[in-house]
Amino acid sequence: MSKLKRFGISLDERLVDKFDRHIKDKKYPTRSKAVGDLIREALVKQEWVAGDEVVGAITLVYDHHRRELVNKLTDIQHKFHELVISSQHIHLDHDNCFEVIVVKGEPKNVENLAYRLRSTKGVKHGALSMATTGKEE
Ligand code: NI
Repeated sequence: MSKLKRFGISLDERLVDKFDRHIKDKKYPTRSKAVGDLIREALVKQEWVAGDEVVGAITLVYDHHRRELVNKLTDIQHKFHELVISSQHIHLDHDNCFEVIVVKGEPKNVENLAYRLRSTKGVKHGALSMATTGKEE
């Protein structure tokens, strides 16, 4: 593990109170751990903007009774097959499907694929979860 470095920050009291409540809710052991996670999150976003290759997961929830929609989502994934590492389909209940699509590639291409999938009419939920490739650590 790398060396710890201490630094002081000054913030609006109300912001700190809110943050402390957030830390308590999330059961963070210390403020330092919580601040560290926020910084890492910001750096992952930066990696996503500036990096050559990123990894992530696209999650979708949709009604499988809409056959057209299922075909459309499959077509889009085939069009972007070089970005798709794997996909998992979970039958949530009688009507709803949950799909997790693991992706890797150039940030702008991955974001474009996520946008296309989640903006497809009939998709109830769509999200892109950005992860770090770990190479920048
Ligand atoms: Ni299903």
